[in-house]
Amino acid sequence: MKIYNVITIFPETISSYFSSGVLSKGIENKLFSVNPINLRDYTEDRHKTVDDYQYGGGHGLVMKPEPFYKAVQGIRSKTETRVILLDPRGKKFDQRMAERLYNYDNITFLCGRYEGIDDRVRELVADEMVSVGDFIISGGELAALTVIDSITRLIPGVLGDENSPMEESFTSGILEYAHYTRPAEFCGLKVPEVLISGNHEEIRKWRLRNAIKMTLQNRSDLLKVNSFSKEEEQILWEEMRYLKKDFKLYVALMHYPMLDKSGRVVSTSITNMDLHDISRSCRTFGVENYYVVNPMPAQREIASRVINHWLKGYGAEYNENRKEAFEYTLIKDSLVSVIKDIEEKEGKKPIVVGTTAKFKEKSIAVDKLVTITDNPILLLFGTGWGFSNEILEFTDFVLKPIHGRGDFNHLSVRSAVAIYLDRINRAFQEDKL
Ligand SMILES: C[S@@+](CC[C@H](N)C(=O)[O-])C[C@H]1O[C@@H](n2cnc3c(N)ncnc32)[C@H](O)[C@@H]1O
Repeated sequence: MKIYNVITIFPETISSYFSSGVLSKGIENKLFSVNPINLRDYTEDRHKTVDDYQYGGGHGLVMKPEPFYKAVQGIRSKTETRVILLDPRGKKFDQRMAERLYNYDNITFLCGRYEGIDDRVRELVADEMVSVGDFIISGGELAALTVIDSITRLIPGVLGDENSPMEESFTSGILEYAHYTRPAEFCGLKVPEVLISGNHEEIRKWRLRNAIKMTLQNRSDLLKVNSFSKEEEQILWEEMRYLKKDFKLYVALMHYPMLDKSGRVVSTSITNMDLHDISRSCRTFGVENYYVVNPMPAQREIASRVINHWLKGYGAEYNENRKEAFEYTLIKDSLVSVIKDIEEKEGKKPIVVGTTAKFKEKSIAVDKLVTITDNPILLLFGTGWGFSNEILEFTDFVLKPIHGRGDFNHLSVRSAVAIYLDRINRAFQEDKL
């Protein structure tokens, strides 16, 4: 039989909780027992004092170490026990932890009150600290009850029907589907028809979709750690599509107005590597168009010849992948024509987002960027010694710079594009999840 001891100054709260409901049957049937232990029985003064003032000042009283120490010693002199200190600083309790704790036959819970328990109790007697969530309650009793309740539900026979804990929320890694009982219609709301159909396969499918939908809406964090069957994954992607529509991303590589080494505003030259590598990164990450922006006709002419070689010339035959990457690359004379082009395609103006190695005003983190707008996003990348203020003032936002481990911060623009696109892609997926 599993035994759960609870050391507390309010033993009656523990016994009263287990005196009714499904768990009281488990106690009656000797599947487990709960022993409230009165902490005051382990005090030695006339007033049965369990608390004292706090060293170092500060308001509130602290529970003394001796009574807890003695109470645990009393149990350990007779049997082995896993000692759990209920404390908001502990590891957060969840279904996985309940399943782990189920493996212990004897657990002793220490319930704090006031400001908490003298920390030497944790050091001397506790095997672990457990928190029931990121909030503060007035005492460890409610926390201990929560933990014991959820462990004892796992003991075979306690719930009567042994299958029921297997289907509950969290056990399978996601939330449970919605339940309905009679009447079939209530306040104008009908029970989903499929549940009345008697078709077990259809009911199973409906419940799976319902569970995934609810998890997606309320607890997407659970989906990230879960491993899915093919069927579950399919439903997940279908449901995600309804939640948020894909945002449109454009990239422009600017060659004017850029700064040179001495801070003068200049026009820079297009490089072959920037044409190839950025086209490939943009294609990989689903960028709608990669614009190469240069006001000098001769420069645009050279770039067009390179691109046409891969689109129409021998290059297209030689490497089809490169052809595909270049199909989305466009050459423009100015930022104004880029914005006009996007506006014509999308029917709305893009949000213009600059990138710079230096921290600037209007800075925005990548994960925020994917949540702020339904408009297309145009990312601007610079060449030479970076953007002139003229362009940065024109932007709606500036992405926070990429930082490495040290002070050196001189990525090639090709690398910066790839890193930002990967980060945006991840942030977008996480935002969807
Ligand atoms: C008022 S709380 C003390 C909170 C403490 N001063 C702090 O800020 O971390 C008193 C007792 O309630 C219990 N308690 C409060 N919140 C808890 C939680 N989230 N999980 C587990 N126990 C909790 C602990 O036993 C704690 O010692």
